[in-house]
This record gives sequence, C-alpha cells and structure tokens, in this order.
Amino acid sequence: MHAVVAREAGGPEVLSYTEIPDPAPGPGQLLVRVAAAGVNFIDTYRRAGVYPMSYPHVVGVEGAGTVEALGDGVTGFAVGDRVAWHEGPGSYAELVAVDAAGVVPVPDGLDLTVAAALPLQGITAHYLVRSTFEVAPGHDMLLTAGAGGVGLLATQLAAAHGGRVITTVSTPEKAALSTAAGAAHTIDYAALDDLTAELPALVRELTDGQGVHVVYDGVGRTTFEASLASLRPRGTLVLFGAASGPVPPFDPQRLNRAGSLYLTRPTIAHYALTREELEWRTSEVLGAAVSGDLDVRVGATYPLADAAAAHEALEARATTGKVLLVP
Ligand SMILES: NC(=O)c1ccc[n+]([C@@H]2O[C@H](COP(=O)([O-])OP(=O)(O)OC[C@H]3O[C@@H](n4cnc5c(N)ncnc54)[C@H](OP(=O)(O)O)[C@@H]3O)[C@@H](O)[C@H]2O)c1
Repeated sequence: MHAVVAREAGGPEVLSYTEIPDPAPGPGQLLVRVAAAGVNFIDTYRRAGVYPMSYPHVVGVEGAGTVEALGDGVTGFAVGDRVAWHEGPGSYAELVAVDAAGVVPVPDGLDLTVAAALPLQGITAHYLVRSTFEVAPGHDMLLTAGAGGVGLLATQLAAAHGGRVITTVSTPEKAALSTAAGAAHTIDYAALDDLTAELPALVRELTDGQGVHVVYDGVGRTTFEASLASLRPRGTLVLFGAASGPVPPFDPQRLNRAGSLYLTRPTIAHYALTREELEWRTSEVLGAAVSGDLDVRVGATYPLADAAAAHEALEARATTGKVLLVP
C-alpha cells in the first residue's frame, strides 16, 4: 500500500509518500481501507518531534473508511462497516489497523469524507464547550482561531448552547467564516500592534468592561497572556493547544492576582475515557452533521501524496476548517 512516512523529526520535507507492506490487524483491531485521513496539528507536533516519537513512522491519527478485516476478539463490527476514528496511528495510508475500542460507526447519510473531518476536532469542540467549561445562556466566551477546524465547530456548538462567542481571526475571509458559524464578534488579532494589551481591551469593550467567563485558547504562546487578561473574576482559561508554540513556565500565584482564575490544559484522551463517553460525544457531533445542525467545512482536500503541502499550509495559517488527505 501507499503511505506517508516521517523519516526523521523535522519540517514537512521529512514526509515521504512511499510504498510499504500492508498492515495486519492485531487482536482487538480493525483493518480499515481509508477513504480520507484528517490532518491535525498533532500530526505536525509528532512529525516535528515536539511530541516524542520513533522514526520512521506512518503519520496521522484520524480518518474514516470501510472495514476490510477483523482482528482476533473483535465484536460489534463487520467487514464492510463504515467507520471513523480519532486515535489511529498510521492513518495517512491506504490501509490502517486501528483499535476497535476507539472506532465509531458512521451514520447513514454522512459521507465518509465528511465523517473523516469530525472525530478529532469534533470531539474536541464538544468536550471543550460541553464539559471543560459548560457553555450556557448568559456566558460570554473568547475563542482563538475562530475559522480553524476546532474553531468553526466549537463556535457552532457554543452558540447553539446559548453562549455569546467572540473569536480571533487573522484575515477578513476567516472573519466571514467565523461570523457565519455563529460568532457574535470577530477580532482581527493579526492586525494588532500589541496583541497582549489590545486584545483584552477589545474584549472588555465588548463585555461592558467585565471580561469573558471563559477563554478557549488553542494558539498558545502568542495569545496566552491576552487570554488571561480577557477573563472576568473567577473566569476559566482553557488552554487546549499550542499552534503558535508552547506557553512558557507559569507561576500559579498569578491566577490569584488576576481574579481567582481557573486554568486547565485538557486533552482529548481524558474526555473520551469510556466507550460511553466516546459514543455520547461522537453521536451528538456526527448526528448534528447528518441533521444539518452542524455545518462541517472542509477547507482543503489534498491527495495523500501531497501531505507535506497540507502540513505546510496548516502551519502557515493558510487553512480554514478541516484539511483532509484522500488516498
Ligand atoms: N487538546 C486537545 O484535545 C486538542 C485536540 C485537537 C486540537 N487541539 C489543538 O487545537 C488547536 C487548533 O487545532 P486545529 O487542528 O483546529 O487547527 P486550526 O485551528 O485549523 O489551525 C490553527 C490555527 O491557529 C491559528 N494560529 C495562530 N498563530 C499561529 C501560528 N503561529 N502558527 C500556526 N497557526 C496559528 C491560525 O488561525 P488564524 O490565522 O486565524 O490565527 C491557524 O489557522 C491546535 O493547537 C491543536 O493542537 C487540541
């Protein structure tokens, strides 16, 4: 089969589209023919060596496709089933062996390429606004990268639950997409001379001087200080990513001075702890995509062979919504 291999830690140029032996499903695994693989920031962290990995490895964790074979001990799935997953290492490939425990069925009426866009960013958006800080009517929130993959989904979910969403975006096109997703206000943070001072001031103008109840910050290094300063007393900063780089070490005493704030750094694994929790989140997200309540924007689709170009675009802030690779 063909797959995308990271030969060593490095930039997009370390990715090779190459032929390797087909994987075999181990005990408890499904062998799946990949219809589309999702491109996520975590793929770039793993490719670059930000997260420790062994090399060479087949890149990618997310996708959707059709079951070709069952490993020993698998129940509840059959050959031919349409499935999707968010934690299937080696997903940038024509075939992947993935643990059945983390695989969910794709409902009828949902195209497999749309299904591939949802497991990782959709579950993330769901847990952020439904669990980490449960958004309800009367809540004001700030969300970074409002036109990104997580951003467009989280905006729609938060607005549907009554939150007033303020987003940051870096271009007028991204502002329009974020507004269409339900953002009440967008702020072009790339146009600010001093983001750390100006972004909180703009957020306070939009919230009668109070600040927001919650900030969801997936950008990290460049926005962290502004995110803290945008909160009202007892507000919550949800730092869920590091698209601009990791946040430097932080003195917890600052939370006290800034308003008895809460800071959390969640990750998806701890919000899909049980099969029941995984099914709750995915059934709501995939179900909303089927019913049309959730608009899933696939901003770019690349042939699998062009994975390096997809990584370049994601890291250059040149993408909106979901980026997919199609074998
Ligand atoms: N903790 C979890 O469970 C979890 C799960 C999924 C994703 N994440 C994190 O969520 C964040 C968003 O992920 P995503 O896949 O949806 O990506 P994305 O938002 O589609 O893309 C990242 C966006 O971040 C913004 N950005 C700001 N500064 C940047 C910089 N220096 N370099 C690159 N991008 C920058 C860009 O939007 P603008 O141009 O508008 O600034 C860019 O489009 C990532 O940090 C990712 O690691 C976390």
